[in-house]
Amino acid sequence: MSQALNSGIVQADKDLQPPLYAKRDLALVRGEGVYLWDADGTRYLDLMSNYGVNVLGHAHPRVTAAIQHQATTLLNCHQSFANDVRVAFLQKLLSLAPAGLTHAFLSNSGTEAIEAALKFAYVATGRTKVVAAKRGYHGRTLGALAATADKKYRDPFAGVLAAATHVTYGDVEELAETVDAATAAVVLEPIQGEGGIHLPPPGYLARARDIAHAAGALLIFDEIQTGLRTGTWFACQHEGVSPDLLALSKGLANGVPIGATLMTAEVAGALEGGVHGTTFGGNPLAAAAGLATLETLEAEGWLAHSAEVGAYFLAQLRGLAHPKIREVRGRGMMIGVELKGRATPVLRAMQERGVLALLAGSLTIRFLPPLLLTKEQVDTAVAALAEALG
Ligand SMILES: Cc1ncc(COP(=O)(O)O)c(C=O)c1O
Repeated sequence: MSQALNSGIVQADKDLQPPLYAKRDLALVRGEGVYLWDADGTRYLDLMSNYGVNVLGHAHPRVTAAIQHQATTLLNCHQSFANDVRVAFLQKLLSLAPAGLTHAFLSNSGTEAIEAALKFAYVATGRTKVVAAKRGYHGRTLGALAATADKKYRDPFAGVLAAATHVTYGDVEELAETVDAATAAVVLEPIQGEGGIHLPPPGYLARARDIAHAAGALLIFDEIQTGLRTGTWFACQHEGVSPDLLALSKGLANGVPIGATLMTAEVAGALEGGVHGTTFGGNPLAAAAGLATLETLEAEGWLAHSAEVGAYFLAQLRGLAHPKIREVRGRGMMIGVELKGRATPVLRAMQERGVLALLAGSLTIRFLPPLLLTKEQVDTAVAALAEALG
């Protein structure tokens, strides 16, 4: 294969779409396990999993077999009809869910999962104010965007966004002062992802739940990025705190588009027909992929593996003690390396060395690898980062 193949696809991709994304000038055409290949046949170690999607890596045989089987059986089935695979997936998902979450609404993406959570909170409380966190990211549809903090995403739509107040993540007092009798929901990521991989101070999530409930508001955890990735099924389980609503997406079907909004029986009981719905949500293809993903994670022990290798990854990164690194943060396979300067050149230098990672903000290199990563592959990644830092 020639270099022209990669650059030809990269150029056509730019020509055919509006300029919404910071492009990486790479055409990825195939994946297997923790590796991806570009159109010219160059192999990359994948430490980004498509922004946290491929927890079981690429083309995992069990997920592939489930997709193939379902594709020859039934692809779509509107929610006004029941479906065997959808029910099996829901039973599995809810059996793993944090305590008290008994029902789920299925959709097709992360922002839809948040959008549904907010609408359900509005209906269940009869209120409209949302309290979210600075540095928080919850998606780009108009409801989810109201909760997202970054001004560069919000400002073009300021006039149409719902009422949301952004408080400092981790500051219990500020949260208590802000949540009031008009508040429908407090929306938090149990570890902030896009905002730079920030863990909550111990006890913060529990206090957030108490504060929300004392005001008659609901607590929404956005586990779209943290779900299945931090060494437990859900990151809130590290703190033993269950929300009223839990938004999931990314890793849930290992690459087939899916969103899920889990809720308590109380919230479910406040909803009625017409409040929300979607044509493709809960389709059997995504349900089959989701069921295979959850069953494989459990049967093959990938959560425990990711906790162990993630701890090793953190230790190796901290051990670098490079003068350009300000701080290393993370849990499981969700790790950020905050630099003292801009991270983009370092990301590019890693890509040139065959290692793909992500940014989180302008200063942080973010690693969201498949959970299958080995310690040897961690060593390769850390060496590539050290070289890229110079
Ligand atoms: C925490 C969090 N919430 C919501 C979203 C939005 O998900 P999607 O891009 O699937 O709409 C993301 C995506 O990165 C996310 O990380």
